[in-house]
Amino acid sequence: MNAKELILKAKKEGYAIGAFNVANIETLKAVTQAAKKLNSPVILEASDGEVNYIGIKQLVGMKKIYQDETGVPIILNLDHGKDFEACKAAVEGGFDYIHFDGSKFPFDQNIEITKEVVKLAHAKGLPVEGEFTHIEGSSADHTKEDAAQFNKAEYYTNPEKAKEFVTKTGVDVLASFIGNSHGIYATEKRLDLTVFKKIIEALPATLFSLHGGSGVHDDDVRAAIKMGIVKVNINSEMRIAFKMTLQESLNASTEIAIYKLTPPAIQAVQDVVERKIMLFGSNEKCM
Ligand code: G3H
Repeated sequence: MNAKELILKAKKEGYAIGAFNVANIETLKAVTQAAKKLNSPVILEASDGEVNYIGIKQLVGMKKIYQDETGVPIILNLDHGKDFEACKAAVEGGFDYIHFDGSKFPFDQNIEITKEVVKLAHAKGLPVEGEFTHIEGSSADHTKEDAAQFNKAEYYTNPEKAKEFVTKTGVDVLASFIGNSHGIYATEKRLDLTVFKKIIEALPATLFSLHGGSGVHDDDVRAAIKMGIVKVNINSEMRIAFKMTLQESLNASTEIAIYKLTPPAIQAVQDVVERKIMLFGSNEKCM
């Protein structure tokens, strides 16, 4: 099954596939081990920073190796591709799913660039995710801030604009903002499902992702998946688990062999991924 077929299957069967950011071989191992253990399809995603750090060829090669080794479907996703060139490099390099985040461009210019990305990606059978509402926050520690600061109409995706954007661009998936800011906050993130319902009503045939998946109240995640979310993006919770655990390992011993220091951090990230897979309901969904 290709990426589009996998997300359509998720929609039909009422679960979401987790999109987990990978930044090194340790996080790659953590995500793929969790997917194999729970017999779940999984999305490996890399943002521009991660793509530049690891390399396109390396990501594509490792995705293939882990897919062959684990036997579970793995989708390689460009996360928040910043411009047409970044998307083109991912399409030509062998990624399976392209997210172009044009939210920093004026609306009409975003539509024009997104249309070009769609043309290029669709020619290779790859689905495209578009974004025009800026998703607030960043995948970082915002624990001194209240997540509710973004629960305001002015930040949310406008359903009418969403309809215009999807109709004009032809994207397969829309990244919308309904309270799902990036990062971890002092309070849990709450989604405005009433706004989400209006967006879905405006776009009944569109698929939806949920960015900012870290620290969202579990009940809201379950409800949003029931309503039609097919992809939930997770980064900050993995980053925090990796850093805290690695720091403990470094502080606790005089060991210098890297491969002896990293296993607890890999396990901590794997625990986060396993918990999310169970929450999203994608466990035991590999045929
Ligand atoms: O694309 C990445 C995500 O939207 C990550 O959000 O850091 O809140 O998990 P998060």
